[in-house]
Amino acid sequence: MVTRLLITQTLVLVVGLGTAWAVATLVGPPLFHQHLQQGGHSGPPTELKHVEDAFASASLIALGVALAIALVTAFVVSLYLTSRIQRPLAELAGASDAVARGQHVRVAAPRIGSEFDRVATAFNEMADRLDHVEVTRRRLLSDLAHELRTPVATLDGYLEGLEDGVVAWDEETARVLREQTGRLVRLVEDVGDVSRAEEGQLQLDLEDVPVPVLAESAVTSARESFSRKGVDLRLELGSGPRDVVRVDRQRIAQVLSNLLGNALRHTPAGGRVTVAAGREGEDHVVISVTDTGEGIDPHQLGHVFERFYRGDTARDRDHGGSGIGLTISQAIVAAHGGSLTAASDGVGRGARFEVKLPVREDATGAGSAMTVG
Ligand SMILES: Nc1ncnc2c1ncn2[C@@H]1O[C@H](COP(=O)(O)OP(=O)(O)OP(=O)(O)O)[C@@H](O)[C@H]1O
Ligand SMILES: [Mg+2]
Repeated sequence: MVTRLLITQTLVLVVGLGTAWAVATLVGPPLFHQHLQQGGHSGPPTELKHVEDAFASASLIALGVALAIALVTAFVVSLYLTSRIQRPLAELAGASDAVARGQHVRVAAPRIGSEFDRVATAFNEMADRLDHVEVTRRRLLSDLAHELRTPVATLDGYLEGLEDGVVAWDEETARVLREQTGRLVRLVEDVGDVSRAEEGQLQLDLEDVPVPVLAESAVTSARESFSRKGVDLRLELGSGPRDVVRVDRQRIAQVLSNLLGNALRHTPAGGRVTVAAGREGEDHVVISVTDTGEGIDPHQLGHVFERFYRGDTARDRDHGGSGIGLTISQAIVAAHGGSLTAASDGVGRGARFEVKLPVREDATGAGSAMTVG
């Protein structure tokens, strides 16, 4: 790199000096001669020639010295610049190799220009992202292994018991085995759903649905299990039939059933769960599920959407959930261009989940008019 830089600089120098040379030899002397004559210089011709020769050699010496100094300067500058650029570049190349080998390496900003600093920042960001993906991948695998262990161990234990004749094949055994295989099947489906949703490959079968219809059918499906547990289920419709969203009906039903299932699980008998639907601003509708149940600790609130995350109470008390329901729900809502958020005033003070969806374009008044016919 030093050589290339030096060659370019020398080239520029040579062209510059060549031009100066041409001016000094072709234009300079006649001009000088003319000035001498105009100045009324009237010495003998030999003296005139001597003066002109002196001028010519002074110009040449000046040019020669300038060339030498410029060349040395160019060499020193090239050397300096290259060493400044080469060090961070080598560092970056080394860091890239290290990251490719899976090591945790970051580079410092070289401080030789904003472009170089930007490259360093971009490199560090890329490395951070790779790290994050790697951590998530490892955690996902270990969580998955953990989730698979329980049902597989139960199945294995029962099968062994059946083989040894310790366990009898009866209705109860069949129920337990079914329950465990069911759990495995659901887990596989859930994990598949999460991956697809997070990769943005969820197949959405979109149709226009009025928001009240979504809320009503979710409440109707859940009514039976709520009354069995003795939890009051209410529907509050603050939105009209004009509030239409373009959604995959089944998927949104899955989200709402998830939220209602959670609310029911975490609300003791005698409590109340309210489903409300209404407009928020011009472009969005919100369907909320609010319960008067056990609430969520502020520290846990930030984690409830993480894969396989289950709160302490959920872990202890029932073994049904795998902690993936909210992850899927959030991914589904995000795939619709909406958002799913959680709020709670703390343990014992209930929880509130909000599904926010964009109103179908025509319904905001901003879209094109519908054509009939
Ligand atoms: N309404 C709620 N009240 C209190 N805690 C809740 C509520 N909804 C969710 N949570 C907490 O968030 C955690 C994650 O919920 P999520 O729906 O993802 O998993 P899950 O219900 O445990 O299992 P799954 O939905 O996969 O069957 C729950 O384990 C629970 O601790
Ligand atoms: Mg759930």
